[in-house]
Amino acid sequence: MQNLIVANWKMNPVSLEEAKKLFNSIKEKMGDVKSEVVVCPPFIYLAELKGLTLGAQDIFYEEKGAFTGEVSGEMLKSVGIDYVIIGHSERRKYFSETDEVINEKIKKALGTGLKVIFCIGETQEQHDNEEKYKVLENQIKKGLDGIENLKFKIENLAIAYEPVWAIGTGNNCSVDETKESINFIKNLVPNVRVLYGGSVKSKNSGEYIKNAGANGLLVGGASLNAEEFIKIVKSAE
Ligand code: PGA
Repeated sequence: MQNLIVANWKMNPVSLEEAKKLFNSIKEKMGDVKSEVVVCPPFIYLAELKGLTLGAQDIFYEEKGAFTGEVSGEMLKSVGIDYVIIGHSERRKYFSETDEVINEKIKKALGTGLKVIFCIGETQEQHDNEEKYKVLENQIKKGLDGIENLKFKIENLAIAYEPVWAIGTGNNCSVDETKESINFIKNLVPNVRVLYGGSVKSKNSGEYIKNAGANGLLVGGASLNAEEFIKIVKSAE
């Protein structure tokens, strides 16, 4: 399995000029790498950036019509986008995305031929209450409900284990705990690539690949610095 390293820029940077600068800097520094590297900028910049594999941070589950503000899988495909992140915890939290909506989005994306990075993870409270495995299983079962009826390659689906308490906090999940969670996910969904995300930095990134069995990383904050992101990419080699 080829490792998959994903840069999730979230709602950054604040201008097209800065987005191009960051993107070109990552592109120039990349060199030959064995991993698959995907950059996910905000929608508005997607069609303006060329030369690296791109992903969107969300998708809507209808093809077109009266859905003000939304972007469809067909639209993403038409501007050359390969990947889409679905079910990120920030979308679940700030935009009230339910497992059912996420499931519709995943089915639509896979059906359109997009590659999906499906995010799951428990909150601090669920972690403290030892509900992690119940939460992960529930998110996976509901999120992937019915996908067996679709025609798609399993390589087109990756699951990102992102403990909510580890995102943007500097409090990354331990390698041992990540390994257990990854094994749990792989048992539920055989042959899928499982990524780790949550405060990934170049000083911890390599361990997740080498010691926790992750098939890649979903990198937020650290992907906004080209040098740091390249170090993370290289740590997975
Ligand atoms: P972080 O974000 O690397 O800033 O913790 C990861 C993510 O939200 O995907």
